[in-house]
Amino acid sequence: MSGPMSSLPKTGPLSDAAYARFAREVAKYPADQKQSAVMACLSIAQQEQGWVSPESEAAIAAYLDMAPIAVREVTTFYNMYNQQPVGQFKLNVCTNLPCQLRNGQAALEHLCQKLGIEPGGTTPDGLFTVQPCECLGACADAPVLLVNDRQMVSFMHNDRLDDLVDTLKAQAQ
Ligand code: FES
Repeated sequence: MSGPMSSLPKTGPLSDAAYARFAREVAKYPADQKQSAVMACLSIAQQEQGWVSPESEAAIAAYLDMAPIAVREVTTFYNMYNQQPVGQFKLNVCTNLPCQLRNGQAALEHLCQKLGIEPGGTTPDGLFTVQPCECLGACADAPVLLVNDRQMVSFMHNDRLDDLVDTLKAQAQ
């Protein structure tokens, strides 16, 4: 059984609600393995702030009694963690080799050209971030992309990319 959660340090920009969720994640593991909750805590921070800031990483490191560099390694290893603020719709276009051979790079370039941004960039209205990503496990469906780390869309040739952008704009809040 782990010790009282209130004894874990609260620092940085995250809300009490985020820390309450951290505590629930930490409670899933033995007291000496609370670092196992790091991925969940990073996801909670990102849900609250839209990205994982250096301040959030430091707060999570303190909370889980981890070296800040160890938290940083997790943030930078996984594509789903945003290392800078992103738009309302994050479009991760696969540009690994199998997709490259089937217009993955062309899809990335088409989106960037249409939205007037560079790969990795965000539109000035804050709606779209477009970035290349690693294999999404759907190579046969290329070009493929992932919307907001959750929704995979396949066979994204230029007309379908245009439709996707229009659909997402209509959904924008
Ligand atoms: S290489 Fe693009 S989904 Fe696998």
